[in-house]
Amino acid sequence: MNQPGAVRRPLIAGNWKMNKTIAQACELIRELRACTLPAGVDVVVAPPFTALQAVAAELRGSSIGLCAQTMHENDHGAYTGEIAPPMLREIGVRYVILGHSERRAYDGETDEAVGRKTRSALRHGMTPIVAVGETASEHEEGLTLEKVTMQVRAAFAGLGAREVASCVVAYEPIWAIGSGHFEEPESADAVIAHIRRAVDGLEDARLLYGGSMKAQNAAALMAQPNIDGGLIGGASLAAATFVPIVEAAYAHA
Ligand code: PGA
Repeated sequence: MNQPGAVRRPLIAGNWKMNKTIAQACELIRELRACTLPAGVDVVVAPPFTALQAVAAELRGSSIGLCAQTMHENDHGAYTGEIAPPMLREIGVRYVILGHSERRAYDGETDEAVGRKTRSALRHGMTPIVAVGETASEHEEGLTLEKVTMQVRAAFAGLGAREVASCVVAYEPIWAIGSGHFEEPESADAVIAHIRRAVDGLEDARLLYGGSMKAQNAAALMAQPNIDGGLIGGASLAAATFVPIVEAAYAHA
């Protein structure tokens, strides 16, 4: 976990979303392990729940970290279809993506729910990767900073600066996700710089960019002073497209 004042180590997280059977997930891990990943970058993968345990076994002895795509805030109970934090910990999950825009849009995840999940992940010793970002219309109306400020304040409500510094935020403009259009590096950096000042502790946290990040734009994004890494969707589904992003993070962080 990041310590306040420490150098921010680059982090590249692959969000596989609803892709890959267990066999396909294990195959990709074998491909990633066959590549030489630069030691100076933290790399994590977020397979679907069904593949977590098999991927954990496939990752044994590797420095690649295991991440979940979401979780329930409670430890157990009558929540059909949900997954509790202790179940993830038991498998060896160390990171969890919270508040991804697809979960906010399709599963009605609110800012307050993201806050409860963030506190729960920390209680269970997992690093939350809190996703925030504006829609296309909010972007056009100039509401980006207002929106992300509200989202990060809700996500980290009630936490001390030290705990906040141990978390990760991914700024993902919703219009950029899966679209092939990415935010200009300077503009993305300006939003992320704003996020850094929005909550006590975030000045020391790792802040990522997400939204059509690929080998072609990773160097320019990573060269920005406030961008510490990326949350990668489509390009994380194959070693050939994911590994060059990790290399760019190493070369340009
Ligand atoms: P993308 O997805 O890289 O496919 O745009 C990013 C994300 O949704 O985390």
